Amino acid sequence: MSKTKKGLFEGVVSFNKQIGERFYRLGLRFKGEAGKAFAGLVPGQFAEFDISTAGLPACGEIPDDLRDSARRELLLRRPFSFCNVEIDGDEVEVEILYCVVGAGTIRMTTLAAGDIISVVGPLGNGFSVPESKSTALLVVGGMGAPPILHLAKVLKEKHPEIETVGFVGAKSAVDFPLEEIQGQSKDALKSMSDFELNGVTWQVASDEGDIGHKGFVTEKLEEWLGSCDAQKDTIIIYSCGPAGMLRNTAAIAERHGVDCQVSMEQMMACGIGLCQSCAIECKGDGGTEYKLCCKDGPVFDSRDVVFKV
Ligand SMILES: Cc1cc2nc3c(=O)[nH]c(=O)nc-3n(C[C@H](O)[C@H](O)[C@H](O)COP(=O)(O)OP(=O)(O)OC[C@H]3O[C@@H](n4cnc5c(N)ncnc54)[C@H](O)[C@@H]3O)c2cc1C
Ligand code: FES
Repeated sequence: MSKTKKGLFEGVVSFNKQIGERFYRLGLRFKGEAGKAFAGLVPGQFAEFDISTAGLPACGEIPDDLRDSARRELLLRRPFSFCNVEIDGDEVEVEILYCVVGAGTIRMTTLAAGDIISVVGPLGNGFSVPESKSTALLVVGGMGAPPILHLAKVLKEKHPEIETVGFVGAKSAVDFPLEEIQGQSKDALKSMSDFELNGVTWQVASDEGDIGHKGFVTEKLEEWLGSCDAQKDTIIIYSCGPAGMLRNTAAIAERHGVDCQVSMEQMMACGIGLCQSCAIECKGDGGTEYKLCCKDGPVFDSRDVVFKV
């Protein structure tokens, strides 16, 4: 997958749709040079958004746990990856799937069609598809969904020869940032063990067991690998989610001798390799070395990363 040149661009909001208590999908349109840059976006790449000009929602619409933090001034841009890219002539529409967690994301909820946002991107290195692979296993935990949904779509469109199997997990049914799950009744959720999205069948797991397998999504991954007869060097795992899930996924990949790429979405300040706030420990030739998630990642070969948790 080829990368395009990053830049400072303006995007026009095309929609901002709530899909669950705390989840939204935001559409942004780019034209001209910005359109060209984002048309080449590789799944797993991200951009830094300036949301300081967006207003706060009315007091009654701010969740209780964010009442104090919501008023904080936004000095830094916020990083987001993308769950979809649509190219329409010289215009490109990108989609962000976001969760409201603090001062920036609560402001994002007030963005409306026609609003303009300043964006720096596309940034970082996304997922790559080695030629030798015939099976891709996509492993998602909670808010790790966006770049993996984008990857699922690109695999189906550009690599239809690759069999793609998805595994998605979260704490409980309300924590899946997916319209396909948020839109279901409680009864339907109870019996939902898998569903189709972006041409992929996703096996579902939740810690609380109110949807899908009760337990970690990585248990489903291990079960699948244990019962698979294919040559392990023809399989690749792609994963994004909480640190503990990435560590488990990397360990399973190593046990089964399968290649694995993980997206390490660390806290970031500058997003362009200047501040060092996103450094992670990696294994270098001469021992430990530190790499920057924003510049060297966020996607890394799982064998290179020293997982902390
Ligand atoms: C490369 C990258 C891609 C991302 N893609 C998405 C995405 O597609 N959708 C999405 O909803 N979020 C994504 N995030 C996380 C997103 O950047 C943060 O949720 C956002 O910056 C929070 O801003 P805020 O001002 O609302 O919250 P803040 O007030 O800044 O923080 C609120 C809480 O969220 C925690 N937090 C902030 N950033 C992170 C992070 N990176 N990892 C874990 N905890 C964090 C803080 O510790 C704090 O507890 C991504 C992060 C990175 C680095
Ligand atoms: S966020 Fe500043 S160096 Fe990575």
